Amino acid sequence: MDFALTPEQQRIQARARRFAQEEVAPVARQADESGVFPAHLVPRLAELGLLAGPLEQRYGGSGMDFVSYALLCEELGRVDSSVRGFLTVHASLVALCIQEWGTEEQKQRYLPLLARGEWIGCYALTEAQAGSDAASMQTLAKDEGDHFLLSGEKIWITNGLSARLAIVFATQAPEKRHKGICAFLVETDTPGFVRHPMPGKELGHRASEHARITLEGCRVPKSALLGEPGEGFKVAMSALDRGRLGVAAGAVGIAQGCLDACIVYARERRQFGQRIGDFQMLQATLADMAASVDAARLLTYRAAWLKDQGLPTTRATSIAKLFATEAAMKAASEAVLLHGNRGYSNEYPVERFYRDIKGLQIYEGTSHIQRVIIARDLLGKEK
Ligand code: CAA
Repeated sequence: MDFALTPEQQRIQARARRFAQEEVAPVARQADESGVFPAHLVPRLAELGLLAGPLEQRYGGSGMDFVSYALLCEELGRVDSSVRGFLTVHASLVALCIQEWGTEEQKQRYLPLLARGEWIGCYALTEAQAGSDAASMQTLAKDEGDHFLLSGEKIWITNGLSARLAIVFATQAPEKRHKGICAFLVETDTPGFVRHPMPGKELGHRASEHARITLEGCRVPKSALLGEPGEGFKVAMSALDRGRLGVAAGAVGIAQGCLDACIVYARERRQFGQRIGDFQMLQATLADMAASVDAARLLTYRAAWLKDQGLPTTRATSIAKLFATEAAMKAASEAVLLHGNRGYSNEYPVERFYRDIKGLQIYEGTSHIQRVIIARDLLGKEK
């Protein structure tokens, strides 16, 4: 068993860390306060070969392995979850999904545009009444001979306001549940594809774009089908298998970001005539946090490694997402406490980490759903 990163993985980690620390971190607080996504970072990600990292080079990607991709998500998550969330939806839920399921024509048309960041991608699965139970979706795909008519509503669609391409999931027959679902590649300037910002102010990820999309008789050609009719649920689930790896790695980054902040603060803050880090109670907090970060990281790298070997990863990825997001939630809570009043204000980033991490426990399948996936894999289907 080899725990060392390869020279190439180390190079990608260093590049991602420099970009995250020098270009993402300085604008993270402002983006969070203004609620505006720092879109100028997208061409930079593309220039650095990080925007569509795991995509094959022939489609404009960097062909990086999944361990490198996890390192990249971790470095971004360590400073700004909104930017990490943007990337994992664009690169993983959309670009890699097209690479897996698309026809050669679809790949040639869309992947280079996505890799260069000229087009942004979004993944439209969730509906008001179909969140955890994704197969209960009501958005309809009506077969009209040479085209489909899509009608319905999707919510909480990350990148949904600026995306030029959406993977839209819709059903031909709601009563067939997952067997009726189709996936479509919809160009967002198609008439009938209408987007709106989500109402209300969100707890975290305030710089992320979250859209409500209404499909009002949106007409798409048969050639827009991604995979075969009825295969859409498998398209969605296989994309989430990869997407959840990026979320797990992002959570490792948040947990590490909390630990980094706590170490600095525990060294510099003095109370009762000594550094607060010299109190055993805080030392225990830091030690527990470090142990959880390590465990979360190892589970995440294992899931990435399994993907690189082409081995089944559904259970390992759900374990990584479950453990890493729960560990980061605890780390963020402890980090705010350790910083006292300062941690409660946005003077320090731990307050933002604390708000953002809740989102990671929810999106791309809640912690409850990860437990369902793990338990079903343990128990198998009833014979
Ligand atoms: N890969 C490929 N196929 C899979 C699969 C996977 N990981 N998981 C299941 N399938 C297949 C099954 O094999 C089955 O196919 P067969 O009928 O041929 O056997 C079919 O899909 C149905 O599977 P289930 O019976 O397990 O389906 P279910 O309805 O019980 O649901 C679930 C399973 C795991 C709970 C699923 O509904 C789920 O993951 N829910 C959470 C949804 C989710 O994560 N939503 C987040 C959306 S994206 C987002 O958060 C924000 C954003 O902007 C991106």
